[in-house]
Amino acid sequence: MSDEETQLEARLEEQDSFEPPASFVEGANVSDPAIYDEFEENWPECWERAADLLEWDEPYDEVLVDDDEPFYEWFTGGKLNASANCLDRHLDDRGEELAIQWEGELGETREFTYEELHREVNEFAAVLRDLGVEEDDVVTMYMPMIPELPIAMLACARIGAPHSVVFAGFSADALATRMNSADSEYLVTCDGYYRRGDPLDHLSKANEGLEDAERETTTVVVDRLGDDLDHELGENQHDYDDLVAEQAGAVVEPVVRDAEDMLFLMYTSGTTGEPKGVKHTTGGYLSYAAWTSHAVLDVKPDDTYWCAADIGWITGHSYIVYGPLALGTTSVMYEGTPDYPEKDRLWEIVEDYGVNQLYTAPTAIRAFMKWGSEYPERHDLSSLRLLGTVGEPINPKAWKWYYKHIGNEACPIVDTWWQTETGGMMITTLPAIGEMKPGSAGPPLPGISAKLVDETGEEVAPGEAGYVVVDRPWPGMLRTLYRNDERFIDEYWSAYSDEEEDEWVYFPEDGAKIDDDGYITILGRVDDVINVSGHRLGTMEIESAVVGVEGVAEAATVGGDHEMKGEAVYVYAILEDGYEPGEEMEQAIIEGVEEAIGPIARPEKVVFTSELPKTRSGKIMRRLLEDIANDEELGDTSTLRNPDVVEDIQGKVSGD
Ligand code: WT7
Repeated sequence: MSDEETQLEARLEEQDSFEPPASFVEGANVSDPAIYDEFEENWPECWERAADLLEWDEPYDEVLVDDDEPFYEWFTGGKLNASANCLDRHLDDRGEELAIQWEGELGETREFTYEELHREVNEFAAVLRDLGVEEDDVVTMYMPMIPELPIAMLACARIGAPHSVVFAGFSADALATRMNSADSEYLVTCDGYYRRGDPLDHLSKANEGLEDAERETTTVVVDRLGDDLDHELGENQHDYDDLVAEQAGAVVEPVVRDAEDMLFLMYTSGTTGEPKGVKHTTGGYLSYAAWTSHAVLDVKPDDTYWCAADIGWITGHSYIVYGPLALGTTSVMYEGTPDYPEKDRLWEIVEDYGVNQLYTAPTAIRAFMKWGSEYPERHDLSSLRLLGTVGEPINPKAWKWYYKHIGNEACPIVDTWWQTETGGMMITTLPAIGEMKPGSAGPPLPGISAKLVDETGEEVAPGEAGYVVVDRPWPGMLRTLYRNDERFIDEYWSAYSDEEEDEWVYFPEDGAKIDDDGYITILGRVDDVINVSGHRLGTMEIESAVVGVEGVAEAATVGGDHEMKGEAVYVYAILEDGYEPGEEMEQAIIEGVEEAIGPIARPEKVVFTSELPKTRSGKIMRRLLEDIANDEELGDTSTLRNPDVVEDIQGKVSGD
């Protein structure tokens, strides 16, 4: 490094706040700081700003109905169709502009103008109808990042059938659980996909899941791999292309839906074993996804915008599919891994397509940083105007690397805190307003009332840590857990609400700190959820997988700090008599977890122990196991029934 560069580097390291680059502010969608007061003074009518981004078949009567809290309704009486909003209404002005630019891992490309995407969606909507799908039937999708996934989602939206997308990396068991929970009788999947150049069989996994499906299922299979994988279709399974060919040129009128009608279900992990079916609606969710794409990601119709997430998670739903398409922009979609064939794949895509906004996760940024700046340096990244991150806290070092080496110190970074349940972003700076502080997400968005409270619900003072709560509803919020209103109230509204006073407070189960400027630094989950590479995994789900392995008597799992993944899965297991700790059992446990959940939950470390630290009432002290995993000073162990076990386990963790 030259002297000058070293100096620059040192300056960057010390700097803890950054002004939005002037070049960005000039043209930003939202740049007047008055927006915070405007929303505050005019709440909840301020949310008309979001609703106005959509086209309504019938106008809504009321912005917010709150007579049955916490079952809020937004834009009540309004009618619209999400597919028409993402496609049809752009046809006149933007029919020939690109809606999706897809790139496969092997380098092949497919492009869809709004007109073309509209046609594909109509044809597949006709296919679904023909197979018997009716309004409100849940259609499950188990697909990787191929264009047929957003096409199928929008086709569902067109006929008013909610979709439930299951991440392709999840296991057969996970697919079956989700299909059964939703009583879903339809599945759209594919034969396989490419990973690091190799064809990967996906259909066998889907079929394995279908064996446990409680309902007779009709399946549509996309042929992604062609000759690279021979697959045979079973009974009630149809080839996607064959069905679509029969519907060539079909036109399906978008079904007019109520604002509060379900658009989709998305399953996510919670504290208990059963995944939660988060219900999102047509009017509130779509307007919120569009509004936040407009205000935070600064998406404009002429942009080429790229969210490098997977559509199998909420980030992809809101910010690859619904938000950007509702705004009529061009959304880039990439099938594969960021380091195939080389570690500059993402930067190559940014350069080739002239990407204007890049939205990715801290775990990816940490990997890029580790690989080195020579990879982005090979490419012209000057098309970038804004950078975003989501999924977990970003450490200031990674933030600054992203700012300098990807953004060339000319792009604002939005560190967006939100959840599957919130539908869209909640806490983040607006990119043209106020300073950015690396590591801190920023203030709540205009109109969002997020606060930090202590155990008793009192707001904490600046500088202190507390729990994040949201004490006013917002349009993108989940409406309930599918067919489980009770659990919905239990999980999200019971901790801080005062039912007698009719004060309802949403509890996202995150801890955070707040500073004098009201900037919120998220510290992480306070429940038993592990955040691996920005993906939420339930400890109970992993533990039941471990206990399901032959020879395991009892198990506990916690998240241990991990340089790249943020957190990694640590398993503590007690074996039954007659089973020996060792590589064989370790392998069996790892495989058991992969089988039950998917490779993403693969344990980083398996520790065999004869006992688990428990309180006198018999509860496993996970906090303690977490401290051991992270080699941290242990808190009070005197309340333990079996304090001796701690040292024993510590020895085993640090031993190798
Ligand atoms: C949990 C939600 C939001 C889509 C992806 C994950 C953590 C999310 C941030 C951020 C710190 C974050 C929280 C949250 N999280 N974004 N910018 N900074 N933590 O969705 O699977 O529903 O997980 O991810 O802990 O509760 P999810």
